[in-house]
Amino acid sequence: MESYYERIDKIIASTGKLSRNEVKKAAKKGLIKVNGKTTKDCSLKITGTDTLTLNGEVITYSKYIYVMLNKPKGYVCSTDDPSSPTVNILLSEDLQRLNLFSIGRLDKNTTGLVILTNDGETAHRLISPTKHVDKKYIAVTANEIAPNVIDVFKDGAVLEDGYKCMPAELEILSPDRCAITIREGKYHQIKRMFESVGNKVIELTRVSIGNLSLDTGLKQGEYKVLTKPEISALTSQ
Ligand code: URA
Repeated sequence: MESYYERIDKIIASTGKLSRNEVKKAAKKGLIKVNGKTTKDCSLKITGTDTLTLNGEVITYSKYIYVMLNKPKGYVCSTDDPSSPTVNILLSEDLQRLNLFSIGRLDKNTTGLVILTNDGETAHRLISPTKHVDKKYIAVTANEIAPNVIDVFKDGAVLEDGYKCMPAELEILSPDRCAITIREGKYHQIKRMFESVGNKVIELTRVSIGNLSLDTGLKQGEYKVLTKPEISALTSQ
């Protein structure tokens, strides 16, 4: 059990089920109980050993939430592009209310693992260029992948703007399909790395971030809230 001592409006709002104002209204209506007793005082602080219910449903507090999404094509990870739907609309209304943001972005036409959270510190740490967390992708290319590309990427591909990438690991899976692991996240990095060797990425899927792999049970567009061990795998990097 998580140990905490928090106000009941904060606890309920942390689930995304209601905003703090809505919690107030629910309390007035007598929908909130602590240890079986109705309370109208939203500022009341309780601990993890108390039982809080909203309309009969048990509510537990999590300071942060982490969602694993298998991103489909056509969705963007940021709100910069108002003409495209964001990945957030794939989440339940409760989760959408929490205004989660993605840890590192995938391009609109890239699929696969996206982590959404409200834990800014962990997000910042995992995308920090100094942290060098491995991000693994499966790429399908327009042309055959020449075997010498393994060494080119290992030495550091040089992009069209002259930037020399950090060493990346390439494993050729079939003539036009590979697994590629990068440690940074420059704009369109993998696509630009392949362009630098005269090839073109036509399909790209992220399969892992550090120790955390995309759950193969999640179809594109599906998501799950991460379990404690999965969160530890993510945050211990
Ligand atoms: N590299 C790309 O080119 N696109 C992505 O979405 C991620 C990495």
